[in-house]
Amino acid sequence: MEKILNINVDHVATLRQARLGEHPDPIEACKIIKKTKAHGVVMHLREDRRHIQDNDLYRYKKTINLPLNLEMAPTTEMVLIANKIKPKMVTLVPEKRLELTTEGGLNLKRNIKKINKIVNSLNSKIQVMIFIDSDNEQIALAKNLGIHGIEINTGKYADAYGNQKNIELKKIKESAKYAHSLNLYLAAGHGLTIKNITKIAAIREINEFNVGHSVIGEAIFYGLYESVNKIYAKINK
Ligand code: PXP
Repeated sequence: MEKILNINVDHVATLRQARLGEHPDPIEACKIIKKTKAHGVVMHLREDRRHIQDNDLYRYKKTINLPLNLEMAPTTEMVLIANKIKPKMVTLVPEKRLELTTEGGLNLKRNIKKINKIVNSLNSKIQVMIFIDSDNEQIALAKNLGIHGIEINTGKYADAYGNQKNIELKKIKESAKYAHSLNLYLAAGHGLTIKNITKIAAIREINEFNVGHSVIGEAIFYGLYESVNKIYAKINK
């Protein structure tokens, strides 16, 4: 079965925000992505608005007819925005102001009541996903929230070297099997590149991949159209 590829355009906005101007415009990037083999777009509206801005979401909704996965922190402010935008999917992620990027999955053990409230306040048409580390206890808690599925954090796998890489891969495989057995829909993301995605894409239970930084980085050398289709080809051999 074809695996779904969503392209995260946050880092087009990062470059724009470096000069606080209008260029490069993530919405223009979405128009190119629409012509590629990718299926959808991911945008993370961070609380500090360091890359994607609220107006990008409104412009996306008006002009881009592709499924949107909105990544957001589990806060009331973000729920209000998501319920206005009504993306196909929302992925709840933890956020810390000082982190360079999302550093790990949501800790449901610590935040279950708060997350439950956020999940229940999102428009019922939005598919809710939770970004989670490969930890079966967390996955079981996610299942209890009645959500659509989980996105497994591949960041630790991406950063690992030597035998640790095998250990992280094994954990992801086991989590994918467990989540699938609970009927949770499965995505994976963070730190995935053309070089490291093959073994993750080979995990049968994972349906969907969210890739950003590496694709936008490669686009500097090969163009966005080319870099998106290259990673699509790795996922769907
Ligand atoms: N999935 C989640 C939940 C993320 O927070 C991010 C980064 O915004 C990604 C996927 C994409 O990660 P990367 O930019 O490393 O490809």
